[in-house]
Amino acid sequence: MEEFTILSGTASAQLAASVAEILHARMAACSISRFPDGEIAIQLNESVRGCAVFIIQSTCPPVDENLVELLALVDACRRADARRVSAIVPYFGYARADKRRGCREPVTASMVATLMEAVGVDRLITVDLHAPQIEGFFHIPVDNLSAVTLLCDALQARHQLSPDTVVVSPDEGRVKTAAEYGRKLGCPVVVLHKERHGGSTTRVTHVVGDVRDRSCLIIDDMISTGGTIAESIHSLLQAGARPEITIAATHCLRLPGARKNLSHEAVRGILATDTVHVIQNAWPELQVISTAPLLASAISRCG
Ligand code: R5P
Repeated sequence: MEEFTILSGTASAQLAASVAEILHARMAACSISRFPDGEIAIQLNESVRGCAVFIIQSTCPPVDENLVELLALVDACRRADARRVSAIVPYFGYARADKRRGCREPVTASMVATLMEAVGVDRLITVDLHAPQIEGFFHIPVDNLSAVTLLCDALQARHQLSPDTVVVSPDEGRVKTAAEYGRKLGCPVVVLHKERHGGSTTRVTHVVGDVRDRSCLIIDDMISTGGTIAESIHSLLQAGARPEITIAATHCLRLPGARKNLSHEAVRGILATDTVHVIQNAWPELQVISTAPLLASAISRCG
């Protein structure tokens, strides 16, 4: 493999260290701080001239701060004559803003793609984009990795999913992902029809499929406030599901109230990955599966 180095933003420091460890790679020394007015201050403490640099930074909350930090890191590498700059954005913020819902709205995911390309990102590596078609906003190679296999392996190894489990897609947007879980776990798929009434309020109007006396595995790409999953649990129990519910999502943003929303006596387990850093003690029920092997293997294939 050509000479490469890994650079970590502050949102993904632990994940970046794990990736570097797997690859026996060096992490480039870099100081990141804030000026008194909140502006980002970055200093690369070693040369990256001629290097392929992989910058690992999720654009999770605080989204705008982490995004600008990523852009500034890319700019620093470009100006320091890095040969190639790949942005590894395990959680891609603003992915839900992939279309206009009415007039006079931005398509912020597209704007983020434009910004990344403008500062000189050569390649984007990300995990379970909320909408895979976001790839089309870019004119550079995009690797949208899937964490579904990692999560299914963990479900099979650590959770005794009963043989009558159904995989539940909490809305129409997740049907393909649910089908992938269903294929890997050998379970049928049930789909909920969800209406969104605001940033944190959703309502399930229909349960499509039979959940009576079945255990449920609710899957999603992300848990933000936890409102979607909480409403899904409620509707599944009302439809006669057994109070044996497992939850698996790739990204867990840990917004205030999310843990409380998912604290239901029917919940047997919650799995998410480390695309967004989770302080384990802050949410002991959450089992965190590392995406470091997935990202390390993507880097080694970029050769
Ligand atoms: C929506 O389309 C997404 O796939 C998630 O279901 C949603 O963003 C989760 O957000 P929250 O946890 O706030 O309901």
